[in-house]
Amino acid sequence: EIKACLFDLDGVIVDTAKYHYIAWKELADGLGFLFTEQDNERLKGVSRTASLNILLEIGGLTIAEEEKAKLAEQKNNRYVEYIAKMDSSEILPGALDFLKECRTNGIKVALGSASKNAMTILNNTGLTPYFDAIIDGTHTSAAKPDPEVFLLGAKALDAAPEHCVVFEDAEAGIEAATRAGMFSIGIGSPETLSAANIVVPSLAHMSVSMLKESFA
Ligand code: G6P
Ligand code: MG
Repeated sequence: EIKACLFDLDGVIVDTAKYHYIAWKELADGLGFLFTEQDNERLKGVSRTASLNILLEIGGLTIAEEEKAKLAEQKNNRYVEYIAKMDSSEILPGALDFLKECRTNGIKVALGSASKNAMTILNNTGLTPYFDAIIDGTHTSAAKPDPEVFLLGAKALDAAPEHCVVFEDAEAGIEAATRAGMFSIGIGSPETLSAANIVVPSLAHMSVSMLKESFA
């Protein structure tokens, strides 16, 4: 039985994955190395600090901790500029309808995001009221693939992990869901998300009846 759906934010509910990518790419450009869209897959779902470490590894750079903090801040400042202009037009296809459908069917809804900017995005897009619980990067101490964010979400909704479904566009997020003992739906391409229980191109391809069928 499905009692709760837990959603990643970036790349699942809203189209912010592109802003993260652009902001990281600008940073890499400034540091003088190439950062591709394929490289960016490794950053999806990963915390800001961990992302920077991966980025620097790709660029082959070793940088002191204080300098790293400045670079992370520089990236975030650019990212915040992008999300400040967001509105409901940047909600991904099918996302709002599916959130509503969950509620209509008595399924609780939680956010499980690594982002410390989640509240800004939810408020700017008008999505905050659709969540029964919100767990973001300000509540967690361990980043995906650690299951913490989803376990906190399940706890907030009073649902056992075996009754929870996670929606994720990142490999690290699917791994986190699996480690939390939850059913996982990959949003994106089956190649990158092969570890998910099922994969759909977007939430426009998802419905509660379809979810119940695949969960059973
Ligand atoms: C999400 C995104 C990552 C991002 C992370 C932290 O998981 O998929 O790309 O690095 O959140 O976001 P933040 O807004 O706190 O830098
Ligand atoms: Mg994501």
